[in-house]
Amino acid sequence: MFLKLQNVTKRFGDLVAVKTVSLDIPEGELICFLGPSGCGKTTLLRLIAGLEALDDGDILLNEQDLTQTPDRERNFGMVFQSYSLFPNMTIGNNVAYGLECRKWNSERIKARVTEMLALVHLEDQIDKFPSQLSGGQQQRVALARALAPEPHVLLLDEPLSALDAKVRVALRLEIRRLQQSLGITTIMVTHDQEEALTMADRVVIMNEGAIEQVGAPVDVYGDPSTSFVADFIGTMNFLNVTIIDDKMVQLAGRKLACDHWHADALSGQKVRMAIRPEDVRIQAEGPPGDNIVEARIDWIEFLGSTYRIDLTLEGAGEKQNMKTELSAALMRDLDLAIGTKVHALLPREQLWVYP
Ligand SMILES: Nc1ncnc2c1ncn2[C@@H]1O[C@H](COP(=O)(O)OP(=O)(O)O)[C@@H](O)[C@H]1O
Ligand SMILES: [Mg+2]
Repeated sequence: MFLKLQNVTKRFGDLVAVKTVSLDIPEGELICFLGPSGCGKTTLLRLIAGLEALDDGDILLNEQDLTQTPDRERNFGMVFQSYSLFPNMTIGNNVAYGLECRKWNSERIKARVTEMLALVHLEDQIDKFPSQLSGGQQQRVALARALAPEPHVLLLDEPLSALDAKVRVALRLEIRRLQQSLGITTIMVTHDQEEALTMADRVVIMNEGAIEQVGAPVDVYGDPSTSFVADFIGTMNFLNVTIIDDKMVQLAGRKLACDHWHADALSGQKVRMAIRPEDVRIQAEGPPGDNIVEARIDWIEFLGSTYRIDLTLEGAGEKQNMKTELSAALMRDLDLAIGTKVHALLPREQLWVYP
């Protein structure tokens, strides 16, 4: 394995900021650490960079233990959220800095600086100072500076979060393309799920210092292994249900079959059932079929090409709410309004059960 984390642990006093994290990262992968603020993403990245010392565990690069290797000798490139350029140096000198530290000769430095600035489309800005560039341009310089010394690994800590939305979307595509064309192993920290899902080969979802799930974006979205991941990635409805038996639960007086179980199927047990808004199928009232619950429309929100509809479940048991999404076309066909009674089909393949 190219980069290997084994039981990596970091404490700050009583707080365990990173808890026994193990992870294998193959060469050339872009992997994202994703999770809410304070879950330990930056600390884990700084441990990999050698900017923090481990309390426990090992980090290996190409089978070599890095524990005793100081950060300068790891040759990992790093880009932070913002404002990390040297303000009193030109763009060219910013990119050259790391190469001078590594004692490259001046001709080689000059060629490399030109090459790197061309890579991020800023070759004409070489003599400017950071304050003369936009935020997005500054981050591209930071990227060029990090990549210049041909690092083994590129580490990015929320590199886009200080930029405005449009620049962010453009730059995330540019970073991904650059990363793929160079084939450089990259670890990016973000709290923005859209960023992680669009850019990463694999996503590591973290919660309170520990890994909840690792997988390709479609897999963590399509099959969240814990209720934390289900709740954190995308939008999810959670409904209180009672287990009837293996694969069956009771909701609002109806029996529903559920295909995905991440809880023990103990009959009589109260558990949470999850379904994504886009998977709820609203139907006009009719004869009750399998996996259908009765509901009433509480609220309708127009979102352009789709509508968001809030439902309250009718029938036995506690009042529960569920969000759904509907195309504008279907909305017209069904002639729905606030107060309308409908049937909501909850397809068994789209139902997850969590403790
Ligand atoms: N140098 C430090 N000293 C004490 N606590 C820290 C230090 N750095 C981070 N922490 C704490 O460790 C936890 C994880 O922080 P961090 O890795 O920055 O989270 P994230 O990057 O996911 O927002 C937080 O509770 C934070 O307050
Ligand atoms: Mg952070």
